[in-house]
Amino acid sequence: MYLDSGAKAMKKQSIGVGLIGLGTIAGQVAKVLIEKSDALAEHVGCPLVLRKVKVLPQDLTRPQAKELDSKLFTTDTDEFFATPEIDIVVEAIGGENPAREYLNRALSSGKHVVTSNKEVIAKHGAEFLSLAQLNGVGLHYEAAVGGGIPLIGPFQRDLLANEISGIYAIINGTTNFILTRMARDGMDFPSALSRAQELGYAEANPRDDIEGIDATYKLAILSSLAFHSRVRPDDIYREGISRLSSRDFQYASELGFAIKLLAIAKQSDDSIEVRVHPVFIPEDSLLAKVEGVYNAILVEGDLVGKVLFFGEGAGPLATSSAVVANIVAAAKDVVVGVGGGAYWKAETGKQVKPMAEIETRYYLRLNVADKPGVLAQISKVLGDHQISISSFIQKLTDSAAQTAEIVIMTRPAQEKAMQQALDELASLQVVKEISNFIRVEA
Ligand code: HSE
Repeated sequence: MYLDSGAKAMKKQSIGVGLIGLGTIAGQVAKVLIEKSDALAEHVGCPLVLRKVKVLPQDLTRPQAKELDSKLFTTDTDEFFATPEIDIVVEAIGGENPAREYLNRALSSGKHVVTSNKEVIAKHGAEFLSLAQLNGVGLHYEAAVGGGIPLIGPFQRDLLANEISGIYAIINGTTNFILTRMARDGMDFPSALSRAQELGYAEANPRDDIEGIDATYKLAILSSLAFHSRVRPDDIYREGISRLSSRDFQYASELGFAIKLLAIAKQSDDSIEVRVHPVFIPEDSLLAKVEGVYNAILVEGDLVGKVLFFGEGAGPLATSSAVVANIVAAAKDVVVGVGGGAYWKAETGKQVKPMAEIETRYYLRLNVADKPGVLAQISKVLGDHQISISSFIQKLTDSAAQTAEIVIMTRPAQEKAMQQALDELASLQVVKEISNFIRVEA
């Protein structure tokens, strides 16, 4: 219910929380609400009380179900939303549906909402924010990006005086773990993925992580906030990590680079550039040193300069840190009887730049015929497209097959020119295979 009077709100004896889901994150959130209840009550000014937990029948066999009073559970969505004592709905089921319906329903009925769901916020955040404003309640989603790393709050408040020029982010721990193993142990991609699965860092169906989908959700949220624009996941150019080979890591190292899956967002005077793909970055850069399942987000602002956020981007403990802090913020709003504020500033109207127009340097790995004149043909194709070569190495000559592997680093070139050059290179008789091409951010 929208509390329109501070005096009336102050009479509240407690703030009611309704939890949707009982997975590992929801279970940990419930645990923190109970174990830290005294400290949280002090922050809020009155107790935070878990009033209802919306579960699926299969949730009731989970270990976390045994930690809670069974009277809290309901499998009935209508019963959950009809619970009058719920002031704040916490959604922790993930995915687009039915989370979208639940969030709409909660906001429309005047409940403050806390969610850790990146997909539903990335796809429908603007719709939820309008509903939240209309109903005078807050929408809080700190845990949707970077687990426990504070990012949404800083973009909404602490960095607001800045014109943000760029975000360079390792925001998927699963892929960063896989790339770290490929770089450090010389593993190929399938073995590194299997290792991640054995350790519980990658899911049985790892598609969302390894294809960069998870990272596009997170980048859509961060870039929308940073650039005060509406960036949808579909606006973001995306490539995953599955076509990287251990050879690419060997060459990267020889050339002084690391390979990372980066989520990149840049803003110029008239457009926004948003992309998720593997990149070469200098091995002495801060992001190159981020290993394993850790996340790191480098933000560049005109006033603040460069700021680096680093930490655990997933896991129930880290995620519950952000979710519970959001619950406390929402509870304080309930206590003083205000809505959550308009956290999404008016749109700038800037368009997302087509990928064909971006400009970067490139790394190319080609398998070519080992005979005179081959390099001349390759450099002619690149030269015809105004692509300048900055360095070149030739290795792994296969004398039986009379082929050689060559690696070319280019100077900055337009993506469109590079794609056309790649098509032409592929059609040359002397080029047996374009084994890989990776963009360079240096
Ligand atoms: N699969 C995600 C990751 C978890 O690896 O970062 C949090 O979104």
